[in-house]
Amino acid sequence: MTNLFAYLATTLVLIVSVLYIYVKYKLSYWSKRGVKTPPVHPIFGNLKDTITFKKPPGVVLQEIYQSADPDDPYIGFYILHKPALMIRDIDLIKQIMVKDFDIFSNRVFGSVHEKDSVGLVNLLSINQPKWKYLRSKMTPTLTGQKLKKMVPLMFECGDPMLKFVDRKPADKDGWKYFELKTLSSRYATDVISSLAFGITTNSFSEDDVAFWEAGQKILAGPKRGIILLLLFFMPEVAPFIEPLTKSPAEFFRRVFWDSMNTREKVGNVRGDLIDSLLALKNGPQSKDFKFEGDNLLAQAVSFYVAGFEATSTAIAFALYELASHPEYEEKLYEEIKGVLDKGEISMDTISEMTFLDAIIAETLRLYPPLPHVDRIASRDYKLPGTNLTIEKGTTVLVSINGTNRDSRYFSEPTTFNPLRKKNEQYDFTGSFAFGVGPRSCVGQRLGMLITKVAVITLVMHYKIMFRPDKEKLLNPLSVFTNAADGVYVHFRRRENKETEK
Ligand code: HEM
Repeated sequence: MTNLFAYLATTLVLIVSVLYIYVKYKLSYWSKRGVKTPPVHPIFGNLKDTITFKKPPGVVLQEIYQSADPDDPYIGFYILHKPALMIRDIDLIKQIMVKDFDIFSNRVFGSVHEKDSVGLVNLLSINQPKWKYLRSKMTPTLTGQKLKKMVPLMFECGDPMLKFVDRKPADKDGWKYFELKTLSSRYATDVISSLAFGITTNSFSEDDVAFWEAGQKILAGPKRGIILLLLFFMPEVAPFIEPLTKSPAEFFRRVFWDSMNTREKVGNVRGDLIDSLLALKNGPQSKDFKFEGDNLLAQAVSFYVAGFEATSTAIAFALYELASHPEYEEKLYEEIKGVLDKGEISMDTISEMTFLDAIIAETLRLYPPLPHVDRIASRDYKLPGTNLTIEKGTTVLVSINGTNRDSRYFSEPTTFNPLRKKNEQYDFTGSFAFGVGPRSCVGQRLGMLITKVAVITLVMHYKIMFRPDKEKLLNPLSVFTNAADGVYVHFRRRENKETEK
């Protein structure tokens, strides 16, 4: 008995010692290279609060950013025991993401396997050299001329949103109470299903929520939140969670091909992505990437997935900030009214609304819907101006929350100030909110337009007021900037008869 006890105790001591040495070794990667890190948890590394669902990754990464000394150009951290490097200096970020893009052109997300063709054979996750070819084919689907034709389709989707707000009963002072993300994500579903799938949905009607529900299956809910966290930070586990990662592909496949086949048969042109995908399907093909079958569907799904969450977040937080700043809301109302009084609304007249542009840019600075971007080093890389070599395979990350709230780059960085851009050292109107370099958001102008159309539609007809009793805590289970308990405001119809419908 005593012998057995001694044997078990020795084995335990041995296991603990080996584990201790292993962890010590793994977690000394950055100190051996002279790179500072925040204090590291021996099991969870630096993402403990995310792994234990206390804080969303965007906030944890921002805290890592802020734990460095103000002028540190970079800081190391660990995803469990895997080393990653966060770049803090804007010039260094541009060096890596723009000038040395050839070395840093792949993302961590989806980088390990490409089995789920609908979810992964698209711009968001495809690797070089296929990415370059696909990007060169998808960029022309969003030219200025094409966007111009999309603007009336966006306003078409604004109408049901307005009617939805109109229908809601008001209190005795005329105020109606709304959760903004519910409103904005229904509008974003309608706009993006119209633009990417060529179909009319009405997510504001209880009888027509199939598309909205399919989108929710991809992006919403705790299970999906955990899956996305894993795919963003530990894509190595993707093969093990494959049964869980399947998107509701069948629904999208059916809707997409109905739309493509009808369009091809009838031969009409609507000015949406379906027109462009038909042209790609019927055009010359490369031997590495063919626009056929699920490869076509994957492009529509990725536009939907990338665009839906980001634009609905941007709309919700823009309206929230306007509700909290009545002086900006009124200035914006006057600007929109001034432009609309001159004639019909179009992409050109929207571009005259410079204050609206500043409102959205400042919203995206404070609430970047995707709060970080990453790249993987495809070979060893000596970081210019330093003695550090980034080893092949290392994750390099930019915390957009970090840079956008850094007092080196913005005065009073946590204040919402749409007038700031004129005075700042860095022009963030081409903000990091859309990423950096050749792999930055392909839908930037489209995303801005969708957001602006929603804000114009609501601000022209409604006054918005902040509800101070609800705090907008960020959802710990989301890789996106996402308010856990919603973003609540009040709406009241404007009295101005000209704006009444
Ligand atoms: C306010 C709206 C939007 C924001 C803030 C936003 C933000 C972003 C960010 C941060 C990235 C990663 C960039 C990087 O890694 O450097 C990205 C990529 C992407 N976005 Fe957006 N996005 C928005 C709207 C849209 C829309 C409407 C679409 C639909 C066309 C879209 C499609 C994409 C695609 C396909 C990529 C991957 C690009 C590539 O890797 O080549 N986004 N977006």
